[in-house]
Parts: sequence; structure tokens; C-alpha cells
Amino acid sequence: MKNVLIIGATGQIGSELTMKLRKEYPGGNIVAGYIKGAEPHDELLQSGPAAEVDITNADQIARAVDTYHIDTIYNLAALLSAVAEARPQLAWKIGVGGLFNVLEVAREKGCAVFTPSSIGSFGLSTPHVKTPQDTIQRPDTIYGVTKVTGELLSDYYYHRFGVDTRSVRFPGLISYTTLPGGGTTDYAVDIYYSAVRGEEFKCPIKPGTFMDMMYMPDALRAAVEIMEADPTRLIHRNSFNIASMSFDPEIIAAKIKEYVPEFKMSYELDPLRQAIADSWPDSLDDTCARQEWDWQPEYDLDAMTRHMLSHLRTKLHVDK
Ligand code: SER
Repeated sequence: MKNVLIIGATGQIGSELTMKLRKEYPGGNIVAGYIKGAEPHDELLQSGPAAEVDITNADQIARAVDTYHIDTIYNLAALLSAVAEARPQLAWKIGVGGLFNVLEVAREKGCAVFTPSSIGSFGLSTPHVKTPQDTIQRPDTIYGVTKVTGELLSDYYYHRFGVDTRSVRFPGLISYTTLPGGGTTDYAVDIYYSAVRGEEFKCPIKPGTFMDMMYMPDALRAAVEIMEADPTRLIHRNSFNIASMSFDPEIIAAKIKEYVPEFKMSYELDPLRQAIADSWPDSLDDTCARQEWDWQPEYDLDAMTRHMLSHLRTKLHVDK
């Protein structure tokens, strides 16, 4: 049995991870931590406990940990890359100040901590193709600055205080349950909604821009498996490159067209998102994750596309 607090449980990752953890650890307290204005609803609310946990409020985190005898914290609170550029101070307050609160509570109360890093932790000076696990991390965005700081701080708490911190660098995550908000990779989610709705998709990212992407079920499994991994095998901790697919807008559009032949895409570039995308890797090398905890993705672009289209048709009540 495990007792887990998910901070940011109503977000893109949290809403699905909370449900997965409730299935993985039946009988445990799997607590959906939310902020005011983003309360859980429906299945998320009805299937287990929920608590207001604002990551910028250390007392709230500590209270939830005490009340539910939490042993593991999934810290999913963050502003995504494009929205963080509009609010850099808030991005730091949540991404770094918030993480500091989580790590302090974890140190005092003996919790393990998962805090995702990202392809955004790399920058223009990073080798872009098959980006190695250990390489230059000089990001050009505030989002990346908070992610690299988070990796360092998490490793520091492990080495200095023995807090069991682990994490992965997520690619752009694609899912049909909860929309991401304000990310650079969001286009790869939005494109499926347009295809299913029969609308032309206006792509904000130019052709030829490759980024790592991953289907949500693989990402959720990675988040669970890294926390379950045998610690004696871990050479790295914060944070592991993981990868499953890399594509540019033309490739994903062509794949969708195989299943939705009438689908159309044109370009309406967003200069901010384009600059961010240009600074990120084209593809990550995830050899260390494969070697140290047997990471293995299941979904490629074709399998993801079939799954996304079929679930979105149901969600959006489109017959096909
Ligand atoms: N999906 C994130 C973003 O685009 C990157 O991790 O901001």
C-alpha cells in the first residue's frame, strides 16, 4: 500500500496520473491536491480523497502529508513554457519556490518526491540530435531555468539529506483527457482536436521543427516505474531522458491524413513558440533510462494517432 499526494492533480498530467495511481495502489490514500479555481470534478473527485494544496504554501503541503500519512509526493505544479515567458516571476515561484517547499516537507516527513523535468531543460547550445543524458543544459527560457534548477535542487536534497528524489525529462505530452495550457508542444494535441472536428488546423510551428513527443499512457507509466525502480541500479536520479517519438508538423499531419483524408493544415506561426522550439532538442537519447530502470515506450506515432482519433471522436461526440 502506498499513500501518495499529487500536487497539481487537475492538470494535464495530474488528472490522469491520479486515476492511474488509484488503480495501481488500491487501499492507499491517493490524494488529489488542487488549487482554488481548479477543483477536481466527477471521477477524479469521487474516486478518492482530495485536498487543497497550493505548492507555494508549505503549511498546506505539510498538513496534507500528515493527514493522509503520505509517503510519496508527485509534484506536477508548473507553468508551461510559453505562458511562463509571460509570467517569469510566477514561473519561478511555482517551479523553484514550490519545489523547495515540497523538498523541505519531504525531508522532515520522510517522503519520496517525483518532479518532472522536460525537454525544455535544454537550450540552443545543447547537441540537438540524440541529445545525451549528461550534456550542456543552458536553457533559453524561464521554464527551462526552473527545470534545470529543479533537477539540481532535487539531486542536492538526495545527496545532502537522503530524500528519495527521482524524475524524468518529459517530451511534449499528447493526451485526450485534459488539455495542456500554454506549452510549446501543445500544437501536437490541438491538431487532433481540429482533425476530429473537421476544422483546418493552423499550425504555430514551422515545418522541419522536430521535437520529442510522447503519448500520455507511456508518460504515466514512466512516472510510476521510475518511483518503483530498484534504487541500487540508479546511477542518475534527476533527471532521466525518456523518448518514444520525434516528429515535425508535416509528419504528424501526414499521419493524421492516413486516417482522416480530408484533414487540412496551414501555417500561422507563433514567433515565441517557434523560438522556444528551435532551442529544444530534436530527439533525446534515453539509453540511461533503458539501462538503469528498463524504460521502454509502447506507443509510436501510428498507434498514438489511432488511439487519439478514436477516443477524441467519442469525447467530442463525432461519428465516423
Ligand atoms: N510540453 C512542455 C511545453 O511545451 C514542455 O515540456 O512547455
